[in-house]
Amino acid sequence: MAYQPGPSHHLQTGYFNKTLQQWQSSNTSIGTENLMLPIFVVDSPNAVETISTMPGVYRYGVNKVVEFLEPVVANGLKSILLFPVLKNLPKDEVGSVADSSDNPAIQVIPLIRKQFPSLTIACDVCLCGYTSHGHCAIFNSDGSINYEKTLARLTAISKAFSEAGAHIIAPSDMMDNRIHAIKQGLLSLKKEAPTSLLSYSAKFCSAFYGPFREAAGSAPSFGDRSCYQLPCGSKGLAIRAAARDVSQGADFIMVKPGLAYLDIISELKSRHPEYPMFVYQVSGEYAMLAFAAQAGALDLRRALTETLTSFRRAGADVIISYYTPQVLGWLREEAEEKSKV
Ligand code: PBG
Repeated sequence: MAYQPGPSHHLQTGYFNKTLQQWQSSNTSIGTENLMLPIFVVDSPNAVETISTMPGVYRYGVNKVVEFLEPVVANGLKSILLFPVLKNLPKDEVGSVADSSDNPAIQVIPLIRKQFPSLTIACDVCLCGYTSHGHCAIFNSDGSINYEKTLARLTAISKAFSEAGAHIIAPSDMMDNRIHAIKQGLLSLKKEAPTSLLSYSAKFCSAFYGPFREAAGSAPSFGDRSCYQLPCGSKGLAIRAAARDVSQGADFIMVKPGLAYLDIISELKSRHPEYPMFVYQVSGEYAMLAFAAQAGALDLRRALTETLTSFRRAGADVIISYYTPQVLGWLREEAEEKSKV
């Protein structure tokens, strides 16, 4: 049969050397600015605690955070996301410790700012880490969510973080209309450099948060979070939640978890191209790769790079990942290799 050059024949001209491969992969590279590192700050000042379900991740006391960050910042770390963990401080119905000066996340912000003035600090804002019932809301006596009280608490906590020096407030509670309330609260502070608002817009009710609840001690004492986190099949609610958050003043939007929700990232990025898109590679996604690699089932560096690339390809601008220190180490090695040739 006569030779028929078809479209598939021409595909190969696109990827047979490194430069051609890069041209075919635009906006999927991973640089230091594309990574944000979550950090657990525990209320025992000198603690460094292992987390059995997240090998390689630790909870740090206020006095240990700077020391941990030193080499990571030296490798190019640009941004962090702080999670307080209460083990000794009292938890109550309304999460009183959250906006008090006892909150370890509030205590650590000035230390980090002093030592690393160019590091961008985001703070997770929620109630579940501070409440006795472990839920992200305040309840009425009949068990229903009291939105007014919940939004007032979330706003007060956000203002406390902002006043302590946080650059970004990241509410992860998923209560309706919290973005509007928190934005108004932040604006009322009249700070010279306004605090940005990163909304966990599309936060799905997920089994992949399992290890986090051990790490942060924030498992609900009854029921689950399915009435305020999105059902995993619902693309429509994710789209509506992101549109609502944008209209209420979110500066950045987020999809969480990542790997099981790539279509949501892609959809939201195409609907809101002018907003930086964050994706959270959550604790269960970390654990899945860590334990598979530990068992020799896959190569961590390759599997992780492929996963992070998929987030970028789907449309994520910033990836929140517990693997950030390792990735920064690899980026540093690659840069050093390049400078040799
Ligand atoms: C708190 C919060 C959770 C995570 C971030 N903020 C847990 C949850 O909603 O149950 C999960 C992060 C992770 O799994 O890495 N609302």
